[in-house]
Amino acid sequence: MGHFLDAVPFSGIIRIRDMMYAVKDPFRLDQGDVSFDAPDTVKRAMHRAIDENHSHYLQTTGVPRLLNLIVAKLRSINQIPVDGPDEVMVTNGGIHGLYILCQSLLESGDEVIVPDPEWPPCMGNIRSARGVPVPCRLHESLGWRYDLAELASTITPRTKAIYINSPHNPTGGVLTRDDVTAIVQLCRERNLWLISDEAYEDVLFDGAEHVSPGSIPGAYERTISVFTLSKSYAMTGLRLGYLALADASLRERLKKALFYTASNVSSVIQYGGIGALEGSQESVAEYCRELQERRDLFYAGIREYAGGIFSGAPPKGAFYAFLKIDPSWRPESMPESGSISWAMAEFLIARGRIGCVPGIDFGLNGEGYIRFCFARDRAELQGALESMRSAINR
Ligand SMILES: Cc1ncc(COP(=O)(O)O)c(C=O)c1O
Repeated sequence: MGHFLDAVPFSGIIRIRDMMYAVKDPFRLDQGDVSFDAPDTVKRAMHRAIDENHSHYLQTTGVPRLLNLIVAKLRSINQIPVDGPDEVMVTNGGIHGLYILCQSLLESGDEVIVPDPEWPPCMGNIRSARGVPVPCRLHESLGWRYDLAELASTITPRTKAIYINSPHNPTGGVLTRDDVTAIVQLCRERNLWLISDEAYEDVLFDGAEHVSPGSIPGAYERTISVFTLSKSYAMTGLRLGYLALADASLRERLKKALFYTASNVSSVIQYGGIGALEGSQESVAEYCRELQERRDLFYAGIREYAGGIFSGAPPKGAFYAFLKIDPSWRPESMPESGSISWAMAEFLIARGRIGCVPGIDFGLNGEGYIRFCFARDRAELQGALESMRSAINR
């Protein structure tokens, strides 16, 4: 890739992360990492794998037992009609899955429609493959969902795929079954691939439903589903994800991209994945209940402590508060960019030691918003809220 990579931007989230290292006693509400630890089922399986000397090369696409468990999970939970283990492959987390997918699917100049706002590595991965991310707005007034006519009008002769992410980072919007069915229909009519990033499939609140597009009749053939164990099993640092797709020739390319970037995913981690999928799923449910309580605690605190500067409805999924900043709010000095999102992030970091991400980092439609992660533990959330109150009222 050489010089070409110079033009691919780093995620702004990384810029914030670097700023946070200089902050003493920070509240880390900037990163999308949970405060929980991986469940015992995962830890025990990894210990066993070490004791049993599973420290050698493996099949490129994954340990057969793990692949079979993934197939069973995709069929029963996601209702995706996966034919067998040949149709799935294990990756170094969701971001790696997207990377090898973009490298395998896109030709130079191919357009991929992405939500605006959107998790920045999605755009970075498309650009790394010389594709062109084309933003389509999500609307706060629609619960951060698409205007489907607007989505259809974003398609051009160069469009190769639509990428969707539900539940959504950063807004927490969840697409309905009707939305997903309509998007599948659009892809069928316009002969497009559908890339479905289901990183937050288990993080749902207030009874919201997650619909895997691959489960809609006739959709699986043109859908590439991207999953990760990072969020559901608090395995962010362990790096384990997987892809599911029916198209054999695209799979062959993906297998090469997987081999040339990883050879195979770490053996011990794959055994951890077996433990996660074979074991009790109670920790996933428990974790989701706790996240809903943290969400409610955080939103109540924002209403009480933030002096009316922020507004927005609590999300139906994922674990982020994507809040609108009162447009009349002004810091002592505006950043050169003139971005109110950046001004707020700099203010909260400098005055309150509160990590957060400027909405503009997720796309132009995110300007005027700020993202907080409420998957941190309750004491950290409470500390951040109190610090926010002092910073705002100083
Ligand atoms: C929308 C989305 N997709 C995919 C991922 C990938 O996560 P990981 O690479 O940790 O599996 C993330 C992580 O934050 C995400 O927010």
